[in-house]
Amino acid sequence: MLKFNFYGHACFQLDDGKYKILFDPFLTGNPQATIKPDDVKADYVFVTHAHGDHIGDAYRILLKNKATAVGIPEIRDLVGDEVKTIGMNLGGTLKLPFGFARMVPAMHSAGVAGGTCCGYVVSIGGKIIYFAGDTCLFSDMKLIGERDKIDYAVLPIGGHFTMDAYDAARAVEFLGAKNVIPVHYNTWQVIEQDAEEFKNLVKGAAVHIVKPGESLELA
Ligand code: NI
Ligand code: MN
Repeated sequence: MLKFNFYGHACFQLDDGKYKILFDPFLTGNPQATIKPDDVKADYVFVTHAHGDHIGDAYRILLKNKATAVGIPEIRDLVGDEVKTIGMNLGGTLKLPFGFARMVPAMHSAGVAGGTCCGYVVSIGGKIIYFAGDTCLFSDMKLIGERDKIDYAVLPIGGHFTMDAYDAARAVEFLGAKNVIPVHYNTWQVIEQDAEEFKNLVKGAAVHIVKPGESLELA
């Protein structure tokens, strides 16, 4: 059984019962956060980019859990030498004990000099999950969906810093995703969105609105 545990904003954990993969652990200062950094469990921490609302508490969580950080090489300098890191870059695929992880493009600023923002396609628990990170809509999302059949797409819908609900609905079409989970909205007023409206815009995929602190079984 694969679980999606949502901690608010763009922070979530995938748990296959053996491995816990944490994404963009912004908890301190996150008004939606439902868990304290010291209470989060992780074997791997994936970071999409170095903005504070994504890299967040990565360092502290990595140290506490003796977890491995995954991100672009420029992120390594931010999380410190004391933690295990796997630096990779766009187009690269890691074979990991739970499956694989591929780093894919995102269109957004990096938050670190010389860096790039990214998304991830992760195979875990027999499912393929695509996490877009922070990005606008781009047509090469079609290529991401062509290479791997996306079971669940985790997409930002908040607008202002990322694509909004309208463009995220187009992204679902480009990806050919079967299911979609909206994130990165309602954290602050500037990214207020009506998730129900997003649900109405999406065609051909199931929309799962997961509230901060809630979990979804990825069936
Ligand atoms: Ni950002
Ligand atoms: Mn962000």
